[in-house]
Amino acid sequence: MALITWNESLSVKISSFDDQHIKLIEMINDFYDNIKIRANDDNISTLISGMKRYAIMHFDIEEKYMVKYNYPDYHEHKKEHDLFISKVKELESKFNQGKLIVSFEITSFLKDWLKAHIMGTDKKYTEFFIKNGVK
Ligand SMILES: [Fe+2]
Repeated sequence: MALITWNESLSVKISSFDDQHIKLIEMINDFYDNIKIRANDDNISTLISGMKRYAIMHFDIEEKYMVKYNYPDYHEHKKEHDLFISKVKELESKFNQGKLIVSFEITSFLKDWLKAHIMGTDKKYTEFFIKNGVK
């Protein structure tokens, strides 16, 4: 069973962002599935770096629109993104140095963070972005 399933309750009503959130959710599920089967370290490492790169790209797009339209909560929002990326970077470097075994606690953290961020923080931009024509 997937760790996290996208459904309407996670929709931010901006289709490009929903698509990117779905992709991130897929990556977290993939990561989780590979932990479950105790995949080899190279696979896990590739998945961590893929997830990191995709999250950076996605956050960047959200932030560019926030800057472009002067989103009032930009700084607060960006802080959450930055914190997440720094956690993933830390996870990546500890794992690659053999200092960390990826646990379900870590996959749960990723899942819980993303869910809470989408539902609590991203959803706040829905009306603002729609008003500015972001799709
Ligand atoms: Fe966000």
